[in-house]
Amino acid sequence: MRSGYVFKDSELKLVNSKGFHSLLPFYEAHPTYVYNLESIKQRISSYQTALKGVDSKIHYAVKANSHDSILSLMKDSDCGIDVVSAGEVKKCLEVGSAASDIIFSGIGKSHDEISFAIKNSVGQINVESLGELKRIQQISNSLKKNVNIGLRLNPDIPVKTHPYIATGFRENKFGVALSQIPEALVLIKDSKYISWTSIGAHIGSQILDLDPLKKSMDSLKKIYSFLKNQEVALESIDLGGGLGVDYRSDDEELDFQNIQNYGKLIQDTFKDSGIKIILEPGRSLVARSGVLLMKVEYIKNNGFKNFVIVNSGMHHMLRPALYQAFHRIQPLKTKESENIVCDIVGPICESSDVLGFDRQIPKPEEGDLLALRDAGAYGASMSSNYNLHGLAKEIVV
Ligand code: LLP
Repeated sequence: MRSGYVFKDSELKLVNSKGFHSLLPFYEAHPTYVYNLESIKQRISSYQTALKGVDSKIHYAVKANSHDSILSLMKDSDCGIDVVSAGEVKKCLEVGSAASDIIFSGIGKSHDEISFAIKNSVGQINVESLGELKRIQQISNSLKKNVNIGLRLNPDIPVKTHPYIATGFRENKFGVALSQIPEALVLIKDSKYISWTSIGAHIGSQILDLDPLKKSMDSLKKIYSFLKNQEVALESIDLGGGLGVDYRSDDEELDFQNIQNYGKLIQDTFKDSGIKIILEPGRSLVARSGVLLMKVEYIKNNGFKNFVIVNSGMHHMLRPALYQAFHRIQPLKTKESENIVCDIVGPICESSDVLGFDRQIPKPEEGDLLALRDAGAYGASMSSNYNLHGLAKEIVV
């Protein structure tokens, strides 16, 4: 049985192998994220099944959600991790991940972050620019310590997603341009302590169309052959993350279907190449696992429009304000009342603090609880203490 959230007996409930669980007791006077570990497990195993025919490893993108229990789950499920700061490296080491399982990505790594990673023998550093490559060369020389690097490439592929989360087009700051590969080759050949073990690309996030991902794979496969001819013996190709979820749909079977289709594409492309495939999914593993529970403070009508004012907002869940992202918002307990159309807004002193525009919901009363769905990815991890309201609580089931 799939684990997730369903309406049963007029309540939104969490369902897992132990049955149906009311979410009402989880809310204790403060906005609360609830994460369902079983649904994450099911997605990990869906990826692992989809990739069975190729040598492969999943490195969970910690930035999506760095809750300790989720990191521990990744470790126990034979997933490596993908991090983007020394802070994330430290956190993963603290929960017991092996340094060799860590891939250190990210475009602005400081001197100290690179030293820290090399001293701690992280498995691989994904390099984003020739400048970073030179810095790694200099640091590894002075530490006299080997480091494996992957070159993150920018394959110049546009994707249909929000422009702020498209990362593989030539206008984006990410990755080394393909035209700079020969220069990277010379630099690396000159480096005593650098082993070039991987190439990769991450072309964006919240991608539902597999076509650009296929283009990226084809591009990496070509570059892999080119480098082989240059006697660069790579061990892996890193396809990044990016697979999205349909935030408007409650048909989670589609998520699993997408993972299977993506896995098939990877197998078809790489099964005869003998190279190991690395994936860095974030959202597609954890988004559906989370709900953000919040309380209605006021129902306001200004003569023009209805506002449902809740005690959570852009400080806890920035996605709607930053990317105009859609998240379903539902009452935790449904009751017979007329529907109203309203904006569901938070307490922050900004007009961008809207969690949902023009939503039709049964008219709530002050004190009622609402759930913002699919909040497991890039929710708590992007939250702030803006206006000093405090962070949301996080609870794992
Ligand atoms: N690998 C790299 C190098 C990345 O930069 C990212 C995400 C991932 C993997 C994981 O991507 P995913 O599978 O989660 O799509 N805050 C935005 C998403 C930003 C994604 C940043 N990079 C949002 O809320 O939609």
